[in-house]
Amino acid sequence: MAPSIRVDPARHVAPVDPRIYSGFTEHMGRCIYSGLYDPGNEHGLADANGYRTDVLQALKDLNIPIVRYPGGNFVSSYRWQDGVGPKELRPRRPELAWLTEESNQFGTDEFIQWCRLLGAEPYFCLNMGTGTLEDALAWLEYCNSSSNTHFANMRRKNGHAEPYGVKYWALGNEIWGPWQVGQMNAEDYSKKAFQWAKALRLLDPSIKLISCGETGFADWDRVTLKTLAPVVDFHSIHLYTVSEGNHDVNVMGPAAAEKGIEITKSLIELAKIESNLTRDITVCFDEWNVWDPVRAPGEKGAEEHYDLSDALAVASWLNVFVRKADVVKIACIAQSVNVISPIITSPTGLFKQTTYYPLQLFATLMQGTALALHVTASDQDDDTYTGPTVPAFVARLTTHTPPAARLTKWIDASGVLSPDGTQIRVALVNRHHSKAFSVPIAFGPEAKVAEKVTVHEVWSEDLRDRNGFEGEKVKTTTQEIEWQGVYQCKEHSFQVLVFTLV
Ligand code: AHR
Ligand code: AHR
Repeated sequence: MAPSIRVDPARHVAPVDPRIYSGFTEHMGRCIYSGLYDPGNEHGLADANGYRTDVLQALKDLNIPIVRYPGGNFVSSYRWQDGVGPKELRPRRPELAWLTEESNQFGTDEFIQWCRLLGAEPYFCLNMGTGTLEDALAWLEYCNSSSNTHFANMRRKNGHAEPYGVKYWALGNEIWGPWQVGQMNAEDYSKKAFQWAKALRLLDPSIKLISCGETGFADWDRVTLKTLAPVVDFHSIHLYTVSEGNHDVNVMGPAAAEKGIEITKSLIELAKIESNLTRDITVCFDEWNVWDPVRAPGEKGAEEHYDLSDALAVASWLNVFVRKADVVKIACIAQSVNVISPIITSPTGLFKQTTYYPLQLFATLMQGTALALHVTASDQDDDTYTGPTVPAFVARLTTHTPPAARLTKWIDASGVLSPDGTQIRVALVNRHHSKAFSVPIAFGPEAKVAEKVTVHEVWSEDLRDRNGFEGEKVKTTTQEIEWQGVYQCKEHSFQVLVFTLV
C-alpha cells in the first residue's frame, strides 16, 4: 500500500509551544568566540560590543525564543564569577570539557545583552560538577535579585541596575555521563539536586527548574524523576542521531527520540502518582541534533558540515516535537553557531547549512495547534524501514534501546492548524533515498481546502549535496500548485504544504 496522509483540523493534539524552536550556545569551539562574539572583526561584521551582526540576523530569522547557556559539558567546571566585571581583570582558566583555555571575555552580562538583541530569553545551566550550591545561589542572586545584597549589588556595579529576570535554570548537565566533571549516579544526583532546588526557590520562587535527565529511555530518567518531580517544572533529555555513513540510519534516528519522549511522559505520570502531584511537568529536550562525534570531535570544535540527508533528519526531528506537542514544551537545537550548527561563520561572513532551512520553515510555519495526523503505510512491503534507529554510540551507553520500527515509515509528517485557524500546514519528509511517492492527503470529514496550495520545498539532486561559503545548493524554494488531492513527493525531499481552509 502506497503511503497516504489523513489530517483533521478538528482533532487537536495540543498547542505547539514556540519554545520547541529554541537554541543553545556553549563555550565550545567557535560558538562564542569568533562565532557570535567577534570583537575586532576586521570586516565590519561586529557591532560596538563585539557581537556579530550577520549571526544575529541569521538567528533572528529562525525565530528563536530561548537560548541555553553556557554549556553543555563546559558548565561543569565553569566559574560564573570569572566572567563578570572589568574584562582586563577576568582570569584565564584551564577548561576541562574541551581541553582548552577559557578567557572569560564573554560571560553572563554579555550573554544577556546578546539575548536581548536576539529577542530571546536566556536559559542558564548550573554547574553541578565543580560548582557549589553557594555559587549557584550567588549566580541566581546576581541575575534576578532586586535586594540590597552583595551579588545584586555586584550586578549594579557592573552597570546593570535592573534584575535580568532569568526564568529557566537547569540543575546540571549530563551528570550521568563519564565525560562529565562531577559525574554521579542517579541516586546521588537526585538527592543533591533536590536540595539545590529547594534553596534556589527560596531565593527566587518565580524560576522554572529543569532536572537533568538522560535520553528519556534510560533508568536514570526513572530514578531522577521519582525524587525530583516535586521540585522541578521540566525534565531535560538529550539525544544526538548520526548517520554512521548510512542515510537510512541518519533519517530514521529521530524515531528513537520519539520513543524516548513517550517513555518520559509515562515516567512523569508515574512520578506524579508516587508523589501525589497534580501540576504539569513537561519535557525540555535541550540538546538534539545530528552529530557524529567521530566525524566532528568536540575537542576539535565539532564543526559538522551538513548535507541534504542531515537536513532531512533535522526535519524528522522537528516532526517529532510537533507530534509530541502535548509533552515537549521546550527543545533546544545543539548548537546555534559553528558547533554542530545551522550556520557557519568565517571572519568575512557566514553560510547557512542545509539544516538551517527546515529549521526556519518549522519555526515560521509550524506554529499554532498540532493536529492528529496519520500516515498510512503497510509493514509488508518496502514502505516501512525496519533497521536500527539508535546510533551505536548511544546504544553502548544505555541498557535499554527502544524498538521504534513502527515509527519509521519512509514518509514522515506532522500537521498544524495555523494560529489564526485558517490554514492547515503539513510538514512532510520523504526519507527514501531514491523513491518518489504520490501521496494522497485527505482532510477531516468536514474540512475542505482551496485549490491553490503553497509548497515550500527543500530538495537537491544528491543526498550528499551541501552548502558552503561558495554558495548554497540546498535551500528553500517556494511555489504554488493546483491541488487535486495527491501530492507528488520527490525522493529524499522535505516540504511544508500550506493548505487554506475554505
Ligand atoms: O553539544 C555538545 C555537547 O554534547 C554538550 O556539551 C554536552 O552536553 C553533550 O554531550
Ligand atoms: O549522505 C548521506 C549521509 O551519509 C550523510 O549524513 C553523510 O554524512 C553520510 O556519509
